[in-house]
Amino acid sequence: MSDDAARTEGRPALRVGVVGIGQRAYIAHHVAASGEAAELVAAADTSEGGRARAAEQFPGTTVHASHREMIAEARLDAAIVTTPDWTHAEVAIDLLRAGVAVYLEKPLAITLADADRVLAVAAETGTPLYVGHNFRHAAVVRLMHDIIARGDIGEVKTIWVRHFVGNGGDYYFKDWHADRSRTGTLLLQKASHDLDVVHLLAGAYTERVVGMGDLMVYGDVTDRRDRSDQTVDEWFSFDNWPPAAATGLNPVVDVEDVSMMMMTLGNGVQASYQQCHFTPDYWRNYTVVGTEGRLENVGDTAGGVVKVWNRRHGWQVDGDVEHPISGVETGHEDADVDTVREFLAFVARGVLPTLSPLAARAAVAAGALAAESLRDGSTPRDVPPLPEAVVRHFEALVAPPAPVAAPAPVPTTASAAR
Ligand SMILES: NC(=O)c1ccc[n+]([C@@H]2O[C@H](COP(=O)([O-])OP(=O)(O)OC[C@H]3O[C@@H](n4cnc5c(N)ncnc54)[C@H](O)[C@@H]3O)[C@@H](O)[C@H]2O)c1
Repeated sequence: MSDDAARTEGRPALRVGVVGIGQRAYIAHHVAASGEAAELVAAADTSEGGRARAAEQFPGTTVHASHREMIAEARLDAAIVTTPDWTHAEVAIDLLRAGVAVYLEKPLAITLADADRVLAVAAETGTPLYVGHNFRHAAVVRLMHDIIARGDIGEVKTIWVRHFVGNGGDYYFKDWHADRSRTGTLLLQKASHDLDVVHLLAGAYTERVVGMGDLMVYGDVTDRRDRSDQTVDEWFSFDNWPPAAATGLNPVVDVEDVSMMMMTLGNGVQASYQQCHFTPDYWRNYTVVGTEGRLENVGDTAGGVVKVWNRRHGWQVDGDVEHPISGVETGHEDADVDTVREFLAFVARGVLPTLSPLAARAAVAAGALAAESLRDGSTPRDVPPLPEAVVRHFEALVAPPAPVAAPAPVPTTASAAR
């Protein structure tokens, strides 16, 4: 028996529901894998197709036509919300008011006002809220975080993120993601992970942003189709190339396919984030420069490496030390399991999570305000503060920083030669 199973033995199982049975609903399978006393008992989707997927993918659960019907009939302790972004605030608020603990997929909401409404209701009701920023649990992020926390590059001063969204056409321009009224901006929908990680690595939240960007390729594609009865697995293919030859785009395409933003954080760190949806390759590249070195990841899953340069020299492909990235080779299954486990441990046993909804709000603030800036001549935007009582509520509900993992650097030819 695992430690977790031993700890949860004898407790009544949490009754968990899942709302929104599209592509992302598969994380509800991780309830069983979590090691917590928890059972998936119900699923809800407003579409017929979604309810058919629920019956097929989650046999044994009751299937409901809305989250409200599920709340009324399923006697839930917790719910995993994997509905599209524009519905997050409404669904989460109804669940929180009903006393059902919420795992809410990122982004917390598509506007800062809605994000703040969700936090206010969670604080007022005391119902647990967790936002699924799973990328924090990715091996590459943990590794970069540990390198920084050990002081290997000194004090962080600036962070630059380049995001090559090679699957952009298939992932973001063939359904609701392409429509501003549904996502706000891909700086929320896609970048919220990285904005959260920038905040984590810098140790502070964004206070001021500017944005710049455009719809450069997908806006010119005239082949459009309503795919609301399908999920991405049904149209995704590496053969869909080049991007301008894409077919079956969403009827409305008005989000930017190139977005760039710059941020000043509360501790003075300066950061930038660039996102492009028509690159051939799909990965993220972080550069973090500190007072005594810089790190950069090459690859962002197992097989990749985080390089650290910490001596003076000319350009050099090898890092002075290099740290292999562990975890999965593609995707983020390992981080997903950890994220669901963290939520359920919080609800079932009060184990404080490492991720605060305050961080999720900070990611929404940075992304939403950068998009405002981008669409308004790149004029700067300042992040408004949250009410003190809301901040205090959530500050008491987050785990202290974990001990830093020991280094496992691989010396490179370059460093061995010195
Ligand atoms: N953390 C991650 O790595 C990650 C990865 C993928 C998606 N996501 C997030 O998951 C969410 C869902 O994305 P997806 O790709 O699965 O979308 P999807 O379009 O494949 O599925 C959404 C489902 O929700 C249903 N739905 C819509 N409105 C509803 C409502 N009000 N109540 C109940 N059901 C409703 C739809 O019918 C559909 O079945 C998004 O917010 C996205 O940002 C997160």
